[in-house]
Amino acid sequence: MTLTQSAIDILSRNDRGGFTIPTKGLYPYQWNWDSAFVALGIATYDMDRAWGEITSLIEGQWPDGMIPSIIFRSDDPDYFPGPSRWGKTKGPIPSTGISQPPVLATIVRKLTEGGSVQDKARLADVFDAIYRWHAWWHDARTVDGIVTTVHPWETGRDNCPEWNLGLDAMTVAPDLAPYTRRDNKHVDASFRPSQEQYDKYLTIVQFGDSIDWDQRRLTDEGPFLMADPNLHFVLLRADKDLRALAAELGKPQAVRDQIDAWIAKGEAATDTIWNDELGAFTARDMHSGTFCNGFSNCSPLCFYADSGSAEQWGKTMDHMTRIAAQIEYMLPSWDPEAPDFEAQRYWCGPLWPQMNYMTALGLAEQGHTDMAARVQNDLCRVIEKSGFWECFNPLTGEGCVGNNFSWTAAVWLSWQHDKKLEGVA
Ligand code: GLC
Repeated sequence: MTLTQSAIDILSRNDRGGFTIPTKGLYPYQWNWDSAFVALGIATYDMDRAWGEITSLIEGQWPDGMIPSIIFRSDDPDYFPGPSRWGKTKGPIPSTGISQPPVLATIVRKLTEGGSVQDKARLADVFDAIYRWHAWWHDARTVDGIVTTVHPWETGRDNCPEWNLGLDAMTVAPDLAPYTRRDNKHVDASFRPSQEQYDKYLTIVQFGDSIDWDQRRLTDEGPFLMADPNLHFVLLRADKDLRALAAELGKPQAVRDQIDAWIAKGEAATDTIWNDELGAFTARDMHSGTFCNGFSNCSPLCFYADSGSAEQWGKTMDHMTRIAAQIEYMLPSWDPEAPDFEAQRYWCGPLWPQMNYMTALGLAEQGHTDMAARVQNDLCRVIEKSGFWECFNPLTGEGCVGNNFSWTAAVWLSWQHDKKLEGVA
């Protein structure tokens, strides 16, 4: 079987009847940004099923506009924290009470580029839901002009060392309900977050449930509040793509003006996460104002969002060049020179396929074609070497955590279909 056939096979095997799970065992439900990437991959061979992935994700949307990070269509005893632990959430389908990076508008735009009349009709069906979701980010999660997060899981970068700043400043709830982790049963514990981190993750969940998942209160009163370059740049890029889609559909001027206002707000907020001392975009604790001190794989998403000054972009490229010279496979999720870099531990070092996808795209669009090629080719090389893993050791190329992984298959398919990125060797 060729790798492309294997990728299609993985996506079919992870199909649970209209929606796709990230991988069997470890992640038995529908995850938000995973499904968006899955749609990108499936679109290379079955447009109808790709749109179905998107509509199934939107089915979980809450009345306030939020699209949750996980949709629980069943209760799998092998997964924790499942629906009962999240408590009184407010969606039409049981779900978590937090969201995930809003890549959806960007991927929907890609699906409709050069698409058929049917694709335009499908776009018209999903536009309002995506618009309401973006409004939710701008209303419920914005503090001092920048989008923030209330939980490391909401950023999609669960245990990146950046979150230690916010987690260290909070305490575990004294009445935290007892629990048994399941993630460590599926994979080697050395890949996964520590116990103390897990207690704090669940403290935030317990707090959210205690306020009936009032999202504005969760932002304003919750124990954890940080700004994240991943959320900020992904949302800013998605707002720009949503603006193009609004024009394509001939949406009313008021809708276009609203999106323009979100974009202007986002551009103004980019400086808020510029860590001048490090010369990079980093996460920032919004309670104390303190910056995190490491270059991560979302620092270069400034190119993808087309935001930041020439000086900020230059310094970002300097970090990329420095890291590229010392690491075999770009792009590690954490700076290999940082003391808490760990090549195998999840977001503390491994290379993540969906991050390479967005980073390579942004670099190529801004004319950094050599670095774009490096980021793209290195992901292809680790897949060729090890297969379709959730993430990869950036020093050895070995696969980490879950195997037969949907978004890895999807990114592979998208790049094969596009014959790699335009202008990239
Ligand atoms: C992990 C990742 C997150 C992803 C999820 C399902 O929690 O950190 O980004 O969405 O797995 O793949």
